[in-house]
Amino acid sequence: MLKMSDILDEKNKILREKSEEVTFPLSESDKKTINDIIEMLTNSQIPELSEKYDLRPGMGLAAIQLGIKKRYFVVVHEYEEGKFDNYVLINPKIVSSSEEMIYVGEGEGCLSINRETVGIVPRSARVTMEAYDMDGNKIRVRGREELAIAFQHELDHLNGILFVDRIDKNDPFKNKNLYREI
Ligand code: NI
Repeated sequence: MLKMSDILDEKNKILREKSEEVTFPLSESDKKTINDIIEMLTNSQIPELSEKYDLRPGMGLAAIQLGIKKRYFVVVHEYEEGKFDNYVLINPKIVSSSEEMIYVGEGEGCLSINRETVGIVPRSARVTMEAYDMDGNKIRVRGREELAIAFQHELDHLNGILFVDRIDKNDPFKNKNLYREI
């Protein structure tokens, strides 16, 4: 099972690199990585298991955070207490996004960022993504609210961008009033 120490910290320069398109069929090692990430993210959101396995709660992880420079990520979304939906998006693209912008009031989090951060990251409130699933089928997925934020945050990872890069250094709460807090 994946451990927190398998996840690269922001100090690692690889996280600033752009990941490469995946070709199909998916390799056995990528399939295993995806299943390991699903398991880890799910456990991390179940309090007893996150404590047992010493996991920081997280809902998303991109391959690059494990040092794998490929364009895929996983989001495990707790849509109802104790119920989870898994999203595996390979070669993802945003095909449409809402004009409405939102931000996480308490600040975004990232399993690669192990320090306190201050500031907000404006994100689209709703996005539609196009991607491929593990079998190479084209899929279309819609996300709203925290799921939309997770998709945008993870897509950023594939382009070498961390959420802290999107916080205005001189004015971390810049234009806060233009966006809706969630
Ligand atoms: Ni992250």
